[in-house]
Amino acid sequence: MPLEDCRLVELPKLTDSRGALTYIEAGQHIPFDIRRIYYLYDIPADAHRGAHGHRGLQQLMIALHGSFDVGLDDGRDRQSFHLSNPCCGLFICPKIWRDITNISEGAVCLVLASEFYDESDYYRDYEQFLNAVREVEN
Ligand code: TYD
Repeated sequence: MPLEDCRLVELPKLTDSRGALTYIEAGQHIPFDIRRIYYLYDIPADAHRGAHGHRGLQQLMIALHGSFDVGLDDGRDRQSFHLSNPCCGLFICPKIWRDITNISEGAVCLVLASEFYDESDYYRDYEQFLNAVREVEN
């Protein structure tokens, strides 16, 4: 799926005098069932996360705290998103290379994923990723 299928998703936010609450329902706010949740935290300054693509995994990425940039690349086009709002998620479809940079101190990145962890679903090498997505196009 191309880069145009990746998008920012505005999540519901309920606010009252006690603070804010955001919720995410599979099939409602994201187009997949959630099999796995993971989060990145205690990230050192200047760290670069991501730097890989996935064959079939769908994800929703949220800056639960702090901010970071997510660069997406489908082998043809690139687009960068700045995530800083816990009620806004970035949906990432399969076959997208992603780089997470410019991570603020104390940032927490929450990821909802459509599948269990499977190393064989990863493209770890950018050239291999490019060859794979170009093969699909041709
Ligand atoms: P990786 O996906 O490369 O992290 P990032 O995108 O944040 O840079 O994963 C880092 C390591 O953690 C790698 O050895 C695989 C392992 N891992 C799991 O065991 N389970 C998981 O759910 C995830 C996301 C990673």
